[in-house]
Amino acid sequence: MNYDIVHLPEEKWKGTIIPIKYETNEYYDVFVDKTEKGYRIEIEKREFAQPVTHSPEDYDFPDKLYADYRENAYAWGVLVNDQLVAAIETDPELWSNRLRITELWVAEEYQKQGIGHALIEMAKEQARRERRRAVILETQSCNVNAIDFYQHEGFTLIGMDTCCYQNNDLQRKEVRLEFGWFPEAKKRLNREDIEIRMETQDDWYHVELMAQHAFWNKHHLGCDEHYLVHKLRQDKDYLPELSRIAVKDGTVIGCIMYSRARVIDGEDAHEIITFGPLCVEPKWQGCEVGEMLLMETMNIAANAGYKGIVIFGEPDYYPRLGFKTCDNFNITTADGKNFDAFMGIELVEGSMKGIKGRFYESEVFQNLPKEEVEAYSKNFPPLKKLRFPGQWD
Ligand SMILES: CC(C)(COP(=O)(O)OP(=O)(O)OC[C@H]1O[C@@H](n2cnc3c(N)ncnc32)[C@H](O)[C@@H]1OP(=O)(O)O)[C@@H](O)C(=O)NCCC(=O)NCCS
Repeated sequence: MNYDIVHLPEEKWKGTIIPIKYETNEYYDVFVDKTEKGYRIEIEKREFAQPVTHSPEDYDFPDKLYADYRENAYAWGVLVNDQLVAAIETDPELWSNRLRITELWVAEEYQKQGIGHALIEMAKEQARRERRRAVILETQSCNVNAIDFYQHEGFTLIGMDTCCYQNNDLQRKEVRLEFGWFPEAKKRLNREDIEIRMETQDDWYHVELMAQHAFWNKHHLGCDEHYLVHKLRQDKDYLPELSRIAVKDGTVIGCIMYSRARVIDGEDAHEIITFGPLCVEPKWQGCEVGEMLLMETMNIAANAGYKGIVIFGEPDYYPRLGFKTCDNFNITTADGKNFDAFMGIELVEGSMKGIKGRFYESEVFQNLPKEEVEAYSKNFPPLKKLRFPGQWD
């Protein structure tokens, strides 16, 4: 696929008609028979006597992007010379935790070049990121091309509605069919499934590549963390003796990197530690790798006599591992603030007693100039900068 996919912001694209048009010689015949014991349903491909064409003009309500009744719609598309040639729109069905594809279209002259596949992958990626339990969509029994394409993309029939468009949809051969795709189930890894060890110089590239995958497009377009890993290794505050990588079948799938930090209260300076990045290759996220890295290294740090850890991290993730917001420790950020993402933990009960003040981490965290990140990123295979819904707006 040689085209760039871009986000289509609502402000600009709301109301844009999606000119879904297709001609078909075939249809999936939906047959519903009431039997003594229940119903018998058959859905089979058959030929029309003559080709049938469907176009936006046939419908009173043509498909539009960001329709008013869509509450959380989000669209991506492909533009060629500023003309929209393909689009996908998604809208999470929040109550059932499924992601619905509400529009999918590739202009005829751009079909069969992998664009439809790339757009479907965006929806699947959104579903994985939002931890939806399925991606679902509606199509019509006469849109054989779309049905066959969805099946090729891993979707399966999940239901139908025989009077969605008109009361005689069965007779008209245009029945609403629902298709669904289910994200790969996450398998919890056990400690013996992975190796946790210090990194060697041979691992450096692979650790940075994994960090780039883990953070790509997460907090802003692209990411800096692969460069942070590289800079941190050279920093005076870096603690390689606490830092570890997780390796599965010879491949680096996670890392945690520690560095010294300080809590300063007037003349008093207390040494504590911080970690970051802590990250896991997307394919292995949700399999407990991050937790195993953290628990194991916290133990090492406690045995080495470190008192506590302070971090900026996901407020939804760390509290279940015992982290508390830093106001509990009378510690603030360097500019005197407290918030949910600013958390700490004692490495031994009571070990943070008497430590209070403002938190300062290594300057390397604040010193990652954009140009340097861009230049360093050239060492890795290019990734697309894409905005996913609700991430950093
Ligand atoms: C359905 C549609 C989105 C597919 O887009 P596309 O860009 O042509 O599809 P791609 O080129 O990305 O195809 C990806 C893969 O699916 C396969 N595929 C595409 N159409 C297929 C079909 N009708 N039957 C079986 N496989 C199909 C391709 O061969 C390709 O396989 P590969 O990865 O093994 O090479 C496009 O045909 C379209 O826009 N149709 C009109 C609008 C429409 O009907 N939208 C659906 C509304 S519900």
